[in-house]
Amino acid sequence: MSELRVDAVVIGAGPGGYPCGIRLGQLKIKTAVVEREYWGGVCLNVGCIPSKAVIHAAKTYEKIGHADELGITVGKPTLDMTKLQAWKGGVVTKLTGGVKTLLKGNGVQLVEGKARLDKSGPDGHRVIVDGPQGQQTIIAKSVVIATGSRPMAIPGFAIDQQRILDSTGALVLDHVPQRLVVIGGGYIGLELGMVYAKFGSKVTVVEAMPNLLGTMDKDCVGVVARKLKKMGVEVMLDAKAKSWEDKGDRAVLTIEGKDGKLATIDADKILLAVGRRPNTEDLGLEAAGVKVDKRGYIVADDQLRTSVPNIYAIGDVIGGMMLAHKATKEGETLAEIIAGHKAAVDIRCMPAVVFTDPEVATAGLTEDEARAKGHTIKVGKFPFAALGRALSVNDTDGFAKVICDAKTEEVLGVHIAGNGAGDLISEAALAIEMGAVVQDLNLTVHPHPTLSEAVREAAAAAIGEAVHIINR
Ligand code: FAD
Ligand code: NAI
Repeated sequence: MSELRVDAVVIGAGPGGYPCGIRLGQLKIKTAVVEREYWGGVCLNVGCIPSKAVIHAAKTYEKIGHADELGITVGKPTLDMTKLQAWKGGVVTKLTGGVKTLLKGNGVQLVEGKARLDKSGPDGHRVIVDGPQGQQTIIAKSVVIATGSRPMAIPGFAIDQQRILDSTGALVLDHVPQRLVVIGGGYIGLELGMVYAKFGSKVTVVEAMPNLLGTMDKDCVGVVARKLKKMGVEVMLDAKAKSWEDKGDRAVLTIEGKDGKLATIDADKILLAVGRRPNTEDLGLEAAGVKVDKRGYIVADDQLRTSVPNIYAIGDVIGGMMLAHKATKEGETLAEIIAGHKAAVDIRCMPAVVFTDPEVATAGLTEDEARAKGHTIKVGKFPFAALGRALSVNDTDGFAKVICDAKTEEVLGVHIAGNGAGDLISEAALAIEMGAVVQDLNLTVHPHPTLSEAVREAAAAAIGEAVHIINR
């Protein structure tokens, strides 16, 4: 068995692990990154990037269908799924190739294979890697576990990628299913459900809770819910998927409503999108003494330390918001910690974007959360329909909302529903991190005509100074 000695080994090359490896390399820490399957992780291969590519394609398809509103006559669009998949694959390949190049360019050693922790020796922690070239031992002072997560299943719904798909299966379909049932009205269910609805599927979303997108601002969710209705997507709330039967030509799904009543729905495909679970099995965690909580997430503190000295964990595998930029923030911070810098994950907000149509983006507290923390709040809202830019790009659904403390006027939360929301939210994240007050947003000149003016006007509305709406 070959042996490799490094200062740090990172297990998993997702958006947590690979930036951690790159920063470690930049900080002159001798580092190896081990990856079993996907350089770039779920995010680049089967998550953020391919899903945003198909979302873009679906949006384009829908826009072409409405081009006549702008006086442009085009024929009815047709969809070539093979070509779409090839284009999407090209985007992924470019980015994943870039990950390897960046790691190598920063002096990081790339190791292919499946890693697990072994008993530590006096010279450091030991990681065994089973790879295409056989077994290898890596001895390192520091170990970073960045193994990510995978889709959750529910009893009776084994994912076979034929009838029952997870997000990975839904992203590689070679045809548009006639009837798609989506179990779970969260991020994946709504993003991908809308894609197929735009491509012509009859989509039904079955959500166990009384609301879609549970943690998001309710007004923002309302905008998405209205769009779903307009698109003909049926949404069943307070409804749990109980079982399904394969009838040969279709699947028949049984749903239980809040009142205990059962209903059935016919489907060609069922997309299971009920959350994700951490990849913590087969990692040798128990033998190494690394603690996991009762849901299987590795327990880590704000310096990403696990229960074992010099073993750290980042990204989806430690839970919290399971987002790529959260994993990256942790990975980059951890590299500095390992290099001996005084660093910790010390943030005031973790922005999030749901790439539905329209997009929903959030930073900081919702109104309920702000009140629960004891704030009396002021809220300013500005509709996209009153915005020159939104009208001139024919995309007026949604609004920006700014929540501030009534007394100090500190910005506590910003929530935006509207296309472009994902790109607008960083200004809000900066404001919250800087402890800005609403006047900081209002007095900053925002270029015209842009969607960003909605954020400024919403801030102004919170203090009764919006110019393009009547202040209430
Ligand atoms: P992962 O990306 O899961 O990477 C972990 C890596 O570790 C994998 O490559 C895996 O192969 C490897 N690994 C696991 N075990 C081992 C082992 N034993 N040995 C070696 N390697 C191992 N987030 C966003 O912020 N924005 C989005 O738009 C977004 N869209 C998404 C769309 C979909 C369809 C999905 C499924 C997720 C999406 N996410 C999005 C979530 C995002 O992908 C994850 O939060 C992110 O990938 C987590 O990064 P990570 O580095 O912790 O783990
Ligand atoms: P999710 O947690 O966003 O949503 C799951 C939904 O399924 C919840 O609303 C839940 O109430 C519902 N549910 C659970 N069990 C159910 C049942 N038996 N029947 C009906 N409904 C049920 O999880 P999702 O969509 O699988 O995504 C996983 C994670 O991936 C997200 O939480 C997010 O962290 C990440 N992601 C992020 C994206 C982004 O940033 N744009 C896009 C896609 C995923």
